[in-house]
Amino acid sequence: MPGESAVNFSLLHRTCKLVVLLCFLHISVTVVFYVRSLDLRFAFVQNQQSHNRSAAGPPSTAAVRGDAKPAEGSPELGAPEVKAAPDLQPCLETSPLLVGPLRVEFNMPVSLEKVKKDNPLVEAGGRFRPSDCVALQKVAIIIPFRKREEHLKYWLYYLHPILQRQQLDYGVYVINQDGDVIFNRAKLLNVGYAEAMKDYDYGCFVFSDVDLIPMDDRNTYRCFSQPRHLSVSMDKFGFRLPYNQYFGGVSSMSREQFLKINGFPNNYWGWGGEDDDIYNRLSSKGMSISRATGEVGKCRMIRHNRDKQNEPNPQRFDRIAHTRQTMMKDGINSLTYKVIRKEKLDLYTMITVDVGKP
Ligand code: BGC
Repeated sequence: MPGESAVNFSLLHRTCKLVVLLCFLHISVTVVFYVRSLDLRFAFVQNQQSHNRSAAGPPSTAAVRGDAKPAEGSPELGAPEVKAAPDLQPCLETSPLLVGPLRVEFNMPVSLEKVKKDNPLVEAGGRFRPSDCVALQKVAIIIPFRKREEHLKYWLYYLHPILQRQQLDYGVYVINQDGDVIFNRAKLLNVGYAEAMKDYDYGCFVFSDVDLIPMDDRNTYRCFSQPRHLSVSMDKFGFRLPYNQYFGGVSSMSREQFLKINGFPNNYWGWGGEDDDIYNRLSSKGMSISRATGEVGKCRMIRHNRDKQNEPNPQRFDRIAHTRQTMMKDGINSLTYKVIRKEKLDLYTMITVDVGKP
């Protein structure tokens, strides 16, 4: 019947319209998601390229430097090196090469050859200084170490580009505890200080665990007018401080700050407590802790099982309770050790050292 076919036709027509509309909606949603994923990939590539750019030679930053201020506390942190290039201006207080938040992951293989290729301006021993301005600070980065080669590769892979973008005059020192006796993190840090001072006129010392990687390059690995805690919000602690006095992971101190507390204790064997002792030393000398914000201070730890010969130190509670009485006798002024080997490798200086036993 003509009336019935007209109804059927109109139904078919509406169904077709609906199908076309749904198809259009589907295509639009797909396109939106595709474009957004392109944006993300583009941002990631830009991020990676800026790593490489900084390694291949940062763009000139000396032009707009009229009002550059010295770094906080920098006069006491080692005068800038002027002999090498007398016409260079000091670097800016905040490096213009910084990119902010970084993607940090540990699921891809990393080789030292690749890190070397990606960072052609890093010199033997893991030394670098900017070529177009005079760094505001000379920084020795000290890493206590034993049998963590995989972690060290990631550390070098992430940190060399960051430190170059931060425009630091820096050197990387890996202090490798020889033998298999129980680990002594704080003593290795003291050794790092003493050995780095033999190499260069460092004014600032960054003490870093090998498994901690910053997630934002605005967290500058330099020194401040107060001792600095750099690993403020670690993923391991849910991106917050485990307690207010926490000073473990990564920290920095100027030479003066370090010497004022007589360096670090030499007698914390095994895991734990030495960072609390360092905190006690600082507070007993009237210093406070400076920190980046929780956002800028984010960092990621490479997951691992507890090392052998680094069991929790049962004496740590008693030791921490007596820091004030012991600190001026036990520290950099009583440090003894024997260097077994010193190797200036492509990306770092490795110092293998016998620190004795408890
Ligand atoms: C230990 C520190 C350690 C902190 C966080 C404390 O109980 O004494 O050495 O860094 O816990 O793990």
